[in-house]
Amino acid sequence: MLQNVITVLNTHANCLTNMKNFLIYFITISIFAIACNNNSTMHNTADTTVKTDSSIDTSLIPLPKNFQTTIDGKQTNLYILKNGKMQVSVTNYGARIVSIIVPDKNGNPTDVAVGYDAVEPYTKGGDTYFGAIVGRYGNRIAKGKFTLNSKQYTLATNNGPNSLHGGTKGFSRKVWDAQQISDSSVMLSYISGDGEEGYPGTLNVQVTYTVASNNKLKIDYAATTDKPTVLNLTNHCYFNLNGQGSGTINKHLVMINADKYTPVDSTLIPTGKFESVKATPFDFTKPSTIAAHVNDSTNQQIKFGKGYDHNFVLNTKGDPSVKAAEVIGDASGIVMNVYTTQPGLQFYGGNFMDGSHTIKQNKKDNYRTAFCMETQHYPDSPNQHNFPSTELKPGQQFASTTIYAFSVK
Ligand code: BGC
Repeated sequence: MLQNVITVLNTHANCLTNMKNFLIYFITISIFAIACNNNSTMHNTADTTVKTDSSIDTSLIPLPKNFQTTIDGKQTNLYILKNGKMQVSVTNYGARIVSIIVPDKNGNPTDVAVGYDAVEPYTKGGDTYFGAIVGRYGNRIAKGKFTLNSKQYTLATNNGPNSLHGGTKGFSRKVWDAQQISDSSVMLSYISGDGEEGYPGTLNVQVTYTVASNNKLKIDYAATTDKPTVLNLTNHCYFNLNGQGSGTINKHLVMINADKYTPVDSTLIPTGKFESVKATPFDFTKPSTIAAHVNDSTNQQIKFGKGYDHNFVLNTKGDPSVKAAEVIGDASGIVMNVYTTQPGLQFYGGNFMDGSHTIKQNKKDNYRTAFCMETQHYPDSPNQHNFPSTELKPGQQFASTTIYAFSVK
């Protein structure tokens, strides 16, 4: 009996100590949160300390009011993310990167991402996918057909005989819900209905852009589904490291950490083979200019792609601490390193750019004046059973991360 009374008293004493500890913890956290809120130039997440540099040339950033309208009954806007000397702007129309401003070797702010200075041109016909999140299946699906669990699905064929970047109205043309999490981060969400563009299952997808310290842009992807589906999400940013609209990217120096690539047929669908890059124009294991082999008309793959438009099998095996690619702007000295959890990288050299669009700063999107480094699964994976699977099942949580890290040389 006495033992029971002592146990009850001890339990009460422990509860009181726990409550006291909780109160101390709560008060400390509150004081910390208030302190952070009072200082508008500082945020507190480990990776994303925001120190805005007053020397940034804000005239390069498009005006948010040019992005504020209603499309498909939903509000569009421009979200500006800052950290140190780096600024990124993102619109929720297509979850697109509109600009990426980083310093060049002389410290001059340089906008390295191709984009428009208003939302309206993004909505026009003939999507170039500037800066967009493409999906539900980025890249091509042969003849717009695939079979999943014995059922055949048919997609729109919007690229010759094939389906490209999610079909007629893929994720690049949807208005996403946006939540600016901090000065340096925005989360975009979209619910793609069961059967949208022919794909099965309701897909709940989130993309978070974060400008981390040291001039890094981190893109986190997350998704769930209520029925088995296929998924290949990527960002389609067109980069010119000398500054968007500043001329060709032919003299950029490229390194891709890939010993193999997936050769394609004349419609850019992989043949299913993995081929060595050795002694081919696809050997970027050591840095090479794009110009070195981009016009090698003796190479059938270069002919099919009209230059570089190919998927590389990354040696990184999904390890985001190992460099997947590095590109250096010859004039600016701006270096972009790519890190990713994805198995592949589509290196597209702007072969279909034709100067027909007026981009920011009144420039033109001329031939080969930008390149894309689209981290993703291999094209046409749903029909290629020797490629890593792109199936997402109910109950699974899809997650992937890509980092574009900028510096100068
Ligand atoms: C494709 C190109 C295409 C470009 C723009 C790239 O991902 O590989 O073939 O022209 O996107 O749509």
